[in-house]
Amino acid sequence: SVAPVPIKLQVNGQEHALEVEPRVTLLDALRENLGLTGSKKGCDLGQCGACTVLVEGRRVNSCLTLAVMQQGKRITTIEGLSQGETLHPMQQSFLAHDGFQCGYCTPGQIMSAVGFSREPWGQTDADIREGMCGNICRCGAYPHIVAAVRDGRGKQA
Ligand code: FES
Ligand code: FES
Repeated sequence: SVAPVPIKLQVNGQEHALEVEPRVTLLDALRENLGLTGSKKGCDLGQCGACTVLVEGRRVNSCLTLAVMQQGKRITTIEGLSQGETLHPMQQSFLAHDGFQCGYCTPGQIMSAVGFSREPWGQTDADIREGMCGNICRCGAYPHIVAAVRDGRGKQA
């Protein structure tokens, strides 16, 4: 194994000092070093989107980037989305529209939907399906996910 290096990550508004091997992904650093297990590991290959987080407000597959590369950047995980007890509008919308079944893909779906809503997509359901196609749901909850994103994107600050 390779010697760990000290790094600092700014996650959900808090700076964390940690030591990780240079090959450690952002996803593993979040889950294993910081205990933030909301971001899920579906494939570890960039194919499912379960690990989606925001880096500087843009959605990123955290399994595809190294923790050492994200120093000094503003990282937001599903744990950092609510304001205290108040859920983010996209979280509220997923609840209101039953946008999940088992829930395994849901943190990634919600983080991706927040990022998607800031991108210049059109307003149709086809745009939502295309823009969200990096997030796989093995339960096939897509109709409800699309409804949740449709509703939530307009309410997001
Ligand atoms: Fe990152 Fe599947 S775990 S895309
Ligand atoms: Fe089960 Fe999407 S709700 S994988």
